[in-house]
Amino acid sequence: MAISYDRPSRSWHLRTAHTSYVLATGVGELALLHWGKALSDEDAIALAGLPRPPGPGSSWRRQGGDELAEYGGPDLRLPSLVVEFVDGTRTLDLIVGSYFLEDDSLDIELADPAYPLHVVLRYDVYEDTDVITRSLQLTNSGTEEPIRIHALASADIRLPERASRLSHTFGRWGAEPQLERVPIPEGRLEFDGRGGQTGHRAQPWFTVDDGTATEESGETWSASLAWTGSWRLAVERLVDDRLHAVFGMHDLDFAFDLQPEEELATPEVALLYHDGGFGGTSRAWHDHYRQHVLRSDEPRPVLYNSWEATYFDVTFRGQALLAERAARIGCELFVVDDGWFTGRKDDHAGLGDWTADPTKLPGGLDPLIDRVRQLGMRFGLWVEPEMVNPDSDLYRAHPDWVYHFPSRPRTELRNQLVLNLGRADVREFVWSTLHGLLTRHDISFLKWDFNRPVTDPGWPDEPHGNPQRLWVEHVRGLYDILDRIRKQHPAVAVEACSGGGGRIDLGMIGHTDQVWISDNTDAYDRLSLQNGYAQAYPVATMVSWVTGSPSFINGRTAPLRYRFHVAMTGVLGIGDDLTSWTDDELVEAAGLVEEYKEVRDLVCQGDRYRLGPLPAGVEAIAYVDRDGRGAVLFGFAHGRRFGDARVRVRVPGLEPAGRYRVGAGKPISGRVLGAYGVDLELAGDLASVMLPIDPA
Ligand code: DGJ
Repeated sequence: MAISYDRPSRSWHLRTAHTSYVLATGVGELALLHWGKALSDEDAIALAGLPRPPGPGSSWRRQGGDELAEYGGPDLRLPSLVVEFVDGTRTLDLIVGSYFLEDDSLDIELADPAYPLHVVLRYDVYEDTDVITRSLQLTNSGTEEPIRIHALASADIRLPERASRLSHTFGRWGAEPQLERVPIPEGRLEFDGRGGQTGHRAQPWFTVDDGTATEESGETWSASLAWTGSWRLAVERLVDDRLHAVFGMHDLDFAFDLQPEEELATPEVALLYHDGGFGGTSRAWHDHYRQHVLRSDEPRPVLYNSWEATYFDVTFRGQALLAERAARIGCELFVVDDGWFTGRKDDHAGLGDWTADPTKLPGGLDPLIDRVRQLGMRFGLWVEPEMVNPDSDLYRAHPDWVYHFPSRPRTELRNQLVLNLGRADVREFVWSTLHGLLTRHDISFLKWDFNRPVTDPGWPDEPHGNPQRLWVEHVRGLYDILDRIRKQHPAVAVEACSGGGGRIDLGMIGHTDQVWISDNTDAYDRLSLQNGYAQAYPVATMVSWVTGSPSFINGRTAPLRYRFHVAMTGVLGIGDDLTSWTDDELVEAAGLVEEYKEVRDLVCQGDRYRLGPLPAGVEAIAYVDRDGRGAVLFGFAHGRRFGDARVRVRVPGLEPAGRYRVGAGKPISGRVLGAYGVDLELAGDLASVMLPIDPA
């Protein structure tokens, strides 16, 4: 069992392969005594016997302890749970009660002696990947009155006091997600996503360290939130130097009236301690996704997407021409992006009317699907199921199906409104529309987009008179539909997209198969964005397209080979107008796609090492087989000067005694590759190299 309880010390020891998480309860509150390197049970019990601040008899008792900051009492730290009872009482006084241990999970119950609120702190231990997930479950155990929840984070995370630096990713449209490491200030550091969207501004994960961690060494404590709605992370340093993070659903406009006997569970926060630096931490996250989050670790097919080639101008002839070229260079999945459905000439009309536009695809979808299938590819379709254009039959029939306030004009962004997925009828419409499409046609893939946030959060007829429930119900609706697709159409894969990378989070990745991380497809920019994504999210889900040169976003010109190599470090896609490519380009592309297919198992299932330190302007990444059966190296250079060309990179992670062949060279040992390395030739601007390292 990964969890044990010691009665005399009233402590729990949660163990993973390399880490320990020790909790103890004293006078009602819960203390986190240790989250870090593995301890023995004896050590954990000894720890629980040590005196704990603020000391016995102090009147400054910490309500809830380290694991839950309920509002009320003298602690005054940023709360993770704020409720209001019908009599107007707005403080909580939670006392630890019983606990339940089952295999790898632990429930600790807390209750307020004066009110019928039942709280469960839930821990799930993933022994093999060193991850512990946490969540809260609230139940109104009364029979008459609702309890209003004003704030409900998934976890209050006690972090080591010595942590002084926080790493996370941030961005905006076309520049999401970028890595940033910032000092943790006195007071509070906050990041969030609003409007019911994970958002482009920040992604819900973080890592802290004591300021000395490097890519390959040092301790890190990190966390990732599984929620595809508004969220908030607040890291707060208290006056006594304690450091904690409140992480979960956003409290902005949050008000959930928990009805008698109703239960509300928060999204999970996944916690990971690692002592192998930032690189080790990323690899550990990737491993956790492969083992426990993704439904398959098989590499995704090489895809073609029509968006940058045709935008809204979808026609049978145009798509068929693209499909022929896509098949010729080795694509395995052909995706028709936005513009295929009724009325969709541009972004002013059509969302909601999910049938093929007869003026664009006269015979409907099937002739195009048949053509794509004849060419040996699978067929995929873009949808934006949570949205509607006012200029659509759906909206004309159901104007009340969108979030709105009756007294205010409805705010259109990209000329569209957000459907209220909290409503059972709307949820059913969205499900049956998608189910119908997937049943009637041979579709293997949906690109699921979400191009605007919720800005008019009104729900006039919410059955409990509690329209703010939408912040929870919308995400529940989204997950419910995605789950039903998985269950009833298991062969269909879904790509998460939100106007680029507005839906990058553990929750969405757990419900889909791959992620569109940014609309910025410039290969050089993309290196930084992919580096940001791969800090905490798995490369096996990271789609990257080869698009036109010059790039639409910044006019940069880059060689085809460089564009391919950048995209080949994730899930390879092609997103350019292939009818404009020369024969030579198509031949070169076909060769590169072939090379990618040779290495994609390593890219998607191997360990990813960001190599360094390297000279300015050079980046190198190695994907190494976890059992030492080879690797593939990618090198990229930008702005090299003075004729500099050779770069030596050391390749970690190989079997020291194993013999490997680098490109066409003589066999050398893994030890030599790790200690001495290999030389890459990278000169000038936007040079790139891909070098397989195969067992000799
Ligand atoms: C935003 C996505 O990020 C793009 O890739 C494309 O699908 C457009 N939406 C289509 O409207």
